[in-house]
Amino acid sequence: MRQIDEELLPRVLEAAVSGTDPAEAMPPVPGPPGWTPERRAAFGDFHRRTAGPSYAIMTGEEIIGATRLTPAEAPGAAEIGIWLTRQARGKGHSVAALHQLIEEARAQGKTALIAETNAANPAAVGLLRTLGAKLWEDPDTGAVHATLRVGDSVEHGIGR
Ligand SMILES: CC(C)(COP(=O)(O)OP(=O)(O)OC[C@H]1O[C@@H](n2cnc3c(N)ncnc32)[C@H](O)[C@@H]1OP(=O)(O)O)[C@@H](O)C(=O)NCCC(=O)NCCS
Repeated sequence: MRQIDEELLPRVLEAAVSGTDPAEAMPPVPGPPGWTPERRAAFGDFHRRTAGPSYAIMTGEEIIGATRLTPAEAPGAAEIGIWLTRQARGKGHSVAALHQLIEEARAQGKTALIAETNAANPAAVGLLRTLGAKLWEDPDTGAVHATLRVGDSVEHGIGR
């Protein structure tokens, strides 16, 4: 994984445009479906403005997704987000990337990670389950809230 900076950001956007639906890779932006100019601009703003680091998930020099660790309201908590390009899914990259992100969270002294998804997204639910997260599903909306305790700090993290 490599931390996303201004230099890497255009390549991350390119990977997202070629391999995801916008709703999978960024918060909603009104407008017609697809990667409109507005959504491409908002993708950049999202990465620049969101607190906490975000990382490109790489195989060699190829960008196959991105993941982020965003500070949450509760002390010691952070929210995780992840997307992979369609062609990179189903190969275990998500579990490997989030294990690295969890190490980074520990190195930052985080004690709990949260994630939000939906029961209609079995890959995300499966991923969170595989990581050992506690899941709670809202029966009215299908929203799934996940919490993962990350325990004691370790001495290393991404890029160290
Ligand atoms: C969510 C996402 C990152 C998961 O990556 P992936 O490569 O598709 O997932 P994997 O194939 O590594 O599977 C992860 C786990 O979920 C399970 N899983 C995957 N697809 C599944 C499905 N359709 N039904 C049930 N379980 C499924 C896998 O078996 C695996 O569990 P295991 O390790 O115990 O075998 C990817 O699908 C994605 O980018 N989706 C769009 C963005 C998104 O929804 N992000 C989630 C935000 S929380």
